[in-house]
Amino acid sequence: MFEITRIENFSPTTFLWEVRAPEIARAARPGQFVIVHCDETSERIPLTIADFDADAGTVTIVIQAAGKTTLDMMAYRAGDRIANIAGPLGQPSEIENFGTVVLVGGGLGVAPVYPILRALKIRGCRTIAIIGFRNESLIFWEGRFRDYSDELIIVTDDGSYGEKGLVTQPLKRLITERQIDRVIAIGPLVMMRASAETTHPFNIPTMVSVNPIMVDGTGMCGSCRVSLGDEVKFACIDGPDMDGHLVNFDELIIRQRRFVKYERQSLQLHEKKCQK
Ligand SMILES: Cc1cc2nc3c(=O)[nH]c(=O)nc-3n(C[C@H](O)[C@H](O)[C@H](O)COP(=O)(O)OP(=O)(O)OC[C@H]3O[C@@H](n4cnc5c(N)ncnc54)[C@H](O)[C@@H]3O)c2cc1C
Ligand code: FES
Repeated sequence: MFEITRIENFSPTTFLWEVRAPEIARAARPGQFVIVHCDETSERIPLTIADFDADAGTVTIVIQAAGKTTLDMMAYRAGDRIANIAGPLGQPSEIENFGTVVLVGGGLGVAPVYPILRALKIRGCRTIAIIGFRNESLIFWEGRFRDYSDELIIVTDDGSYGEKGLVTQPLKRLITERQIDRVIAIGPLVMMRASAETTHPFNIPTMVSVNPIMVDGTGMCGSCRVSLGDEVKFACIDGPDMDGHLVNFDELIIRQRRFVKYERQSLQLHEKKCQK
């Protein structure tokens, strides 16, 4: 059993868990993920490691309640225990002194960008972060980002905080005005696709973190397959980081929705159960 040592709510549907898992905390690297299994009746779900502290023996995950399992997770309290957390899984992000790196985080994607930003800054990169949210009430970790960004640009869809618009607007501005050596974009698939399309004409290496539906998380089931150029890759063992200019986003978006009917049914059953 693994203890949840701290919970922080960022919005009515977005929250952070710190979980005591010393072996994972010791081995974790930016870009990797865990598979969480709350109890014997729940689904195993992949979640990105948003932070880790080897001394405290904890890993941090940030969760958006999107369906039955993640909604159930909202009922847990600090001190509760979950059945299992497996990891770290996946390939770590490449951390080198690349020069000037723009890190783009959209919505919940801001959380997995953070450990990559920190590691790149420590490695000597000049870091420019762009983080985007639908509105001011959803913003989290602005302070953490300021600590490791040479420049921080915050955008909101409705203009309630920072610049109004989408993350691709400041991204386009930066790459047309300056020498940018690398872009890392994490967030919803449409946002990562738009970021990769923005940098493609400028030939700037652009990494995205893909999140196809995963089952085992260890390369055996094939559920997480992604077409990358002419190759087929498995996000759980070859990724999640992948070259954004090669990912077939159209296919990924279709495959992401292949269980949508069952996800809706499961959510409806869950809502009925909660109303009783
Ligand atoms: C590598 C990776 C890292 C992720 N990191 C995070 C994270 O840090 N925070 C976070 O909130 N979410 C993250 N996700 C997505 C998260 O796994 C899903 O939101 C979760 O599984 C939804 O389960 P549910 O029962 O609540 O919702 P459901 O109703 O079952 O599904 C809601 C949506 O979540 C996606 N989904 C469902 N099951 C899976 C699955 N087994 N694997 C991947 N996606 C699924 C589908 O797009 C689906 O439409 C990550 C996914 C991957 C693959
Ligand atoms: S989740 Fe099964 S192969 Fe990747």
